[in-house]
Amino acid sequence: MRTCSFSNTVLLIFPSFFILLLLIFSSSSPSHIYNVPSLTVSTKSQNLSSNGYNHSIKVTFNATNVTASTINATIASSNPPSITGSNTTVESDEESLPSKARTKKGKKKRTNLDGIEEGLAHARAAIIEAARFRNCTSHLQQKEDFIPTGAVYRNPCAFYQSYIEMEKRFKVWTYKEGEPPLVHDGPLNSIYSTEGQFIDEIDNNKRFSPHSPEKAHVFFLPFSITKMVKFINDPLVNRYSREGLKRVVFDFVGVVSNKYPYWNRSRGADHFMVSCHDWAPDITAANPKLLNNLIRVLCNANTSEGFQPRRDISLPEIFIPKGHLGPPRQGQRPSKRSILAFFAGGAHGYIRKVLLEQWKDKDSEVQVHEYLPKGMNYNKLMGQSKFCLCPSGYEVASPRVVEAIYAGCVPVLVSDHYVPPFTDVLDWSKFSVQIPVQKIPEVKTILQSISMKRYLSLQKRVQMVKRHFVVNRPAQSFDVINMVLHSVWLRRLDVQLVS
Ligand SMILES: *[C@@H]1O[C@H](CO)[C@@H](O)[C@H](O)[C@H]1NC(C)=O
Ligand SMILES: *[C@@H]1O[C@H](CO)[C@@H](O)[C@H](O)[C@H]1NC(C)=O
Ligand SMILES: *[C@@H]1O[C@H](CO)[C@@H](O)[C@H](O)[C@H]1NC(C)=O
Ligand SMILES: *[C@@H]1O[C@H](CO)[C@@H](O)[C@H](O)[C@H]1NC(C)=O
Ligand SMILES: *[C@@H]1O[C@H](CO)[C@@H](O)[C@H](O)[C@H]1NC(C)=O
Ligand SMILES: *[C@@H]1O[C@H](CO)[C@@H](O)[C@H](O)[C@H]1NC(C)=O
Ligand SMILES: *[C@@H]1O[C@H](CO)[C@@H](O)[C@H](O)[C@H]1NC(C)=O
Ligand SMILES: *[C@@H]1O[C@H](CO)[C@@H](O)[C@H](O)[C@H]1NC(C)=O
Ligand SMILES: *[C@@H]1O[C@H](CO)[C@@H](O)[C@H](O)[C@H]1NC(C)=O
Repeated sequence: MRTCSFSNTVLLIFPSFFILLLLIFSSSSPSHIYNVPSLTVSTKSQNLSSNGYNHSIKVTFNATNVTASTINATIASSNPPSITGSNTTVESDEESLPSKARTKKGKKKRTNLDGIEEGLAHARAAIIEAARFRNCTSHLQQKEDFIPTGAVYRNPCAFYQSYIEMEKRFKVWTYKEGEPPLVHDGPLNSIYSTEGQFIDEIDNNKRFSPHSPEKAHVFFLPFSITKMVKFINDPLVNRYSREGLKRVVFDFVGVVSNKYPYWNRSRGADHFMVSCHDWAPDITAANPKLLNNLIRVLCNANTSEGFQPRRDISLPEIFIPKGHLGPPRQGQRPSKRSILAFFAGGAHGYIRKVLLEQWKDKDSEVQVHEYLPKGMNYNKLMGQSKFCLCPSGYEVASPRVVEAIYAGCVPVLVSDHYVPPFTDVLDWSKFSVQIPVQKIPEVKTILQSISMKRYLSLQKRVQMVKRHFVVNRPAQSFDVINMVLHSVWLRRLDVQLVS
């Protein structure tokens, strides 16, 4: 059993005079979660005087404004102020200015960070331009096999440009601290697999990793909450206690923030972690003062549990059986799908209880099973259904969403407070159906009222988005791992660090 202390790993305290900056990012709360920070840029209402640095990018996205606001350059003093909100302003303390950071005349030297921010400013400008002119081919420096088109994308040109900018520039530094199984490891199979697959890919794929952390846009904290749950919980003390897990997370942040200047300079806003475990939101919310800005990539994207669509990222939950990473299974052609709606699963959580009470074994067209009867094949049935019901279970995400997409079955999200993956880029209303929990009794009428024409277009689009949910190792263009990275990239674009 691993201990949860990192204290003898590293506590080299660097002199804190590296710290020149502070950042902040705006947090006007989104009015509508499904439109949050989206790449749907309105072509009319925006005024993009892109004055690079010191800019406040103010892009009017569809239904929400994304603003990268900058706090006036600040010097972290020896007593860093507490983070109280997005408006925190810190008075700069001239006396504590590190000599390295300025010349005798007080002029600042150009730093690596300046170069990074300059690159980001160019990327923003290119994305905004692509969005404005809706011309997906005019700005390309790089060829991709795949070009996103169609209604599933909020703004395909902006997305394409953003993706290309990411490929061209994005550098992710993975902290080397920590050891398996708690860090640099994660579940590769079963329902939490996207956590481990992502950690493993980022740790091992050099494509996005810079030679030095000085060149990084974002910093990855490669710990695995699923592994912590497995190894740290002491069943003799309290099987469900999360205290030990919280301590590991804080210790890890403590170690890297003591050893390197990066956490402190941004207060974590250019740092991210990934977890698919149900408990991850709780564990990472335990110390809001410390983890206020951290970008959390979570399967359990429950806005009632602190998930913030502007800062956090919804991670697809994908069931990966052992030794099975192959291409998704194909379902039947639409004309051969004889089942209107299908669900099979345990009575986990309140939503499924309602669903099962209402529909279990009651209707031949709406097939709802608590456990699949012997001899019936789950994936095959999904492939024979028009719609697949994806109710939340113990957490808001369900692996059924991706299973349905793989099977060419239109997913029906039955959830409350759930932000589905990649809503920055994808318009879920174009390839899924969303039914609020209180309308579970009306599932059949709602689905029957969808015309054949609309169903066929939903189904076609399900096939189109499939590539964004496929797990490849190593990752391939526009697949699920790259889509998650792109989400991180977008969050980084929304932040500006000033030296
Ligand atoms: C970052 O801030 C913490 C808390 O104020 C401090 O203990 C630590 O030494 C700082 N890190 C560096 C590298 O200066
Ligand atoms: C904004 O999004 C809504 C719904 O997604 C859509 O109906 C509307 O046309 C979009 N507006 C613009 C300007 O793109
Ligand atoms: C854009 O901003 C410039 C300068 O701030 C201003 O002169 C111009 O009128 C603005 N255009 C629109 C369409 O708001
Ligand atoms: C920030 O922008 C303002 C207005 O555009 C400009 O006057 C100022 O010089 C800029 N500051 C820096 C540090 O670039
Ligand atoms: C977005 O920006 C526009 C123009 O600056 C403003 O009129 C509008 O109220 C803003 N919307 C939100 C949700 O902040
Ligand atoms: C930054 O601070 C200076 C001096 O305190 C002030 O004049 C300037 O307006 C501030 N800039 C911004 C963008 O807040
Ligand atoms: C943030 O700053 C703006 C303008 O300075 C102010 O109107 C607003 O009340 C502040 N918000 C918070 C949460 O302090
Ligand atoms: C789009 O880009 C292509 C390639 O550069 C160019 O030929 C075409 O004129 C552009 N279309 C518009 C509407 O700008
Ligand atoms: C989402 O969070 C709320 C508030 O904690 C909770 O009541 C609800 O059960 C959660 N949803 C699911 C499906 O777990």
